[in-house]
Amino acid sequence: MTKENQPSLAQQRKDDHVNLALEQQSKLQTSAFDDIRFMHHSFSEVKFDQIDTSTQWANTTHRFPFYINGMTGGSTYTKQFNDSLSTLAHVTGLAMASGSVSVALKEPEVRDSFTIIRKNNPNGFVMANLGAHHDLENAKRAVDLLEANALQIHLNTPQEVVMPEGDRYFSTWKENIQQIVEGLDVPVIVKEVGFGMSKETMEELISLGVKNIDVSGRGGTNFVNIENDRRDTIDFSLLGEWGQTTPESLLESLSLQKEVNILASGGVRSFYDIVKALALGAKATGLSGKLLQTVHLEGVDAATKIVLDWEKAIKHMLLLLNCHNIQELQETQLLLRGPLREYAELREID
Ligand code: FNR
Repeated sequence: MTKENQPSLAQQRKDDHVNLALEQQSKLQTSAFDDIRFMHHSFSEVKFDQIDTSTQWANTTHRFPFYINGMTGGSTYTKQFNDSLSTLAHVTGLAMASGSVSVALKEPEVRDSFTIIRKNNPNGFVMANLGAHHDLENAKRAVDLLEANALQIHLNTPQEVVMPEGDRYFSTWKENIQQIVEGLDVPVIVKEVGFGMSKETMEELISLGVKNIDVSGRGGTNFVNIENDRRDTIDFSLLGEWGQTTPESLLESLSLQKEVNILASGGVRSFYDIVKALALGAKATGLSGKLLQTVHLEGVDAATKIVLDWEKAIKHMLLLLNCHNIQELQETQLLLRGPLREYAELREID
């Protein structure tokens, strides 16, 4: 709350994002993940108890090949969601990112909506999150606030453009990213926010020294539509399909996966989508909207059960695909169809 005890514009925006994202989740239907199939082979020789679903990224070995991606914090209302999500992270061992802590750097009264993440989960892998307009000094403040193990830097030009109060100048971003990667003593993950990435963007990030990229593609939470719902003038809903889907972004990353850890998020709905993203080369998969909805509608205990069931289901999928681990999964034969296949042809990706 501000001095007048009214939420600031930034605090109100955080509440809007959660409410509109929850509304979107209930309406999602088709997904580009449905354009991916696995080739079935009739023999499997791996031993179930030797299957390993752990994965490495951001200089760390993670038990789960999925994590709670950056979402929220910054208001009294959103603190409740960080309370639930960080409890889920603590109970299961999932890595978790906060939403952008930018608001807490300016409005100290909302800091506890972020620090609760570390308080609930003292030993877990926690990522702080900031936009790319922030410099190294703010990056250090963000990491300190959460005693974070890593920092996510988000790229979100479509969101800013459609956001009524959004930024209109992005020219410092690359320089900030380079300085943060060089100067911060925890790993940095650069992520999109649901618009996906091109190979060209990823090549630029690699040239800036970035070692972990979350392509965060279209197909789930859609920030053009969220920000469009928050504005009165100019209807930007025509841009509702802006950006690359998550599978398309993973195709974009194929030739770069030896140089950089690719993470995938955006529209991941199930263990099956996770396995498909891993097979396309992701080291792990981030979930936002789906887990937000799950803790909201079903509570932390039910979400915990789902997470542990997914871990088991992923193991069963590896058995079916004759793979001991995530690396072997990345050699699996995939069949692409429909718009995803067309995209691969258009971009000349084999
Ligand atoms: C987000 N996302 C996000 N990302 C980020 O880097 N910083 C942020 O502050 C936020 N805020 C935020 C709020 C809410 C309510 C949601 C649901 C999401 C974007 C998120 O990390 C992810 O990139 C996209 O949501 C796409 O993934 P899903 O939601 O389709 O799984």
